[in-house]
Amino acid sequence: MAGNVIRVAQELPGWVVTEVRKCCRRRLEGRYFTDPEIFRAEMERFYFGMWVCVGRSEQIATAGKYFVAEVAGESVIVTREEGGGVRGFYNVCRHRGTQLCAEPTGEFAGRIQCPYHAWTYGLDGRLLAAPHMEGEAFRKEDYPLHAVGAEEWEGLIFVYLGKEKTALREQLGDLPEKFAGWGMGDLRRYKIEKYEVKANWKLIVQNYNECLHCPVLHPALNKVTNYLSGDNDPAHEGYIGGSMLFRGEAETMSVDGVRRRAYLPGLNAEQRKLVLYYAVYPNLFLSLHPDYVMVHRLWPRAVDRTEVETEWLFHPAEMAKEDFYGDDAVEFWDITNKEDWWITEQSQKGVSSRGYIPGPYSKSEKLPAEFDKKIRGENKGVLRGEP
Ligand code: FES
Ligand SMILES: [Fe+2]
Repeated sequence: MAGNVIRVAQELPGWVVTEVRKCCRRRLEGRYFTDPEIFRAEMERFYFGMWVCVGRSEQIATAGKYFVAEVAGESVIVTREEGGGVRGFYNVCRHRGTQLCAEPTGEFAGRIQCPYHAWTYGLDGRLLAAPHMEGEAFRKEDYPLHAVGAEEWEGLIFVYLGKEKTALREQLGDLPEKFAGWGMGDLRRYKIEKYEVKANWKLIVQNYNECLHCPVLHPALNKVTNYLSGDNDPAHEGYIGGSMLFRGEAETMSVDGVRRRAYLPGLNAEQRKLVLYYAVYPNLFLSLHPDYVMVHRLWPRAVDRTEVETEWLFHPAEMAKEDFYGDDAVEFWDITNKEDWWITEQSQKGVSSRGYIPGPYSKSEKLPAEFDKKIRGENKGVLRGEP
């Protein structure tokens, strides 16, 4: 009997130790959501050790356009060079370290010039001019901007700030083949919304990956999709996710389930019946609908605070139509997002309490359980006394 019992409350001062039967996988302990040390280690491992999605290719459609991404406290310039390739640089001048770009978006006139003493760089990061540095010992080629990895996949831009870079394709695994039908690279951004969520980033990942809460929390969503339908993929090193089916006559996720746009042109008959929900580690959620795609990007700012960018992508042929309408999808997900952020903030409050003891996952919470397993594995060695 003793082997089937675990002691769950021994860390709580003044509390009677509770013993419960071992039955199933348990959630992460509270410190995973509240400890700044764990948060820092996770940023190191996930945000500086993996490719991170920072935006869309169309944001920098032509050479010289740029935007600045804030990746786990690091400011990164993302731009396009003359040859068409995407480039990423630390937003730091090689002279005295001043930030080069103060504006979040803009366009370089063929070069990047520091606003302090006018050191000037090409769009490829080479130092072109350094006023008052003439002298034999100084060589411009020794002072290019510090580059980060930058690549594109299906209209999404990723950067890599770590030391041991693997190819983006390797991190994505089989997703390029799996998602080819949705043709994300052809789609264009219709709207972007930014949310601030007072919760740890992992609570947002866990919540995105189960729909047991849908009948309780999302009345609008529950009308158009069956929360027990669909299949989950086996957990992959780089992602977790699966599909869901529509309910009744619904054909997409919108305020009334009505699909007001043509199916995305690459989808087969089976794919038209599905919504796919994938959390691509570390910061990208892809929600693939029959007629549009929703993208979430997670930006953890503190152990208990995460900014979320949500964008809605549609096919340009649909957007060009006079009677194009996309707000039914935006409105639907804006309501649903806010419901999710609210409950996630409630979770943050609860798991921060001394009264929180990790509860058990059901069989239908396989994806968050897989995510927790990964988090435990990645944090091994960081946590004192963690088995
Ligand atoms: S700090 Fe940039 S030119 Fe001096
Ligand atoms: Fe939800």
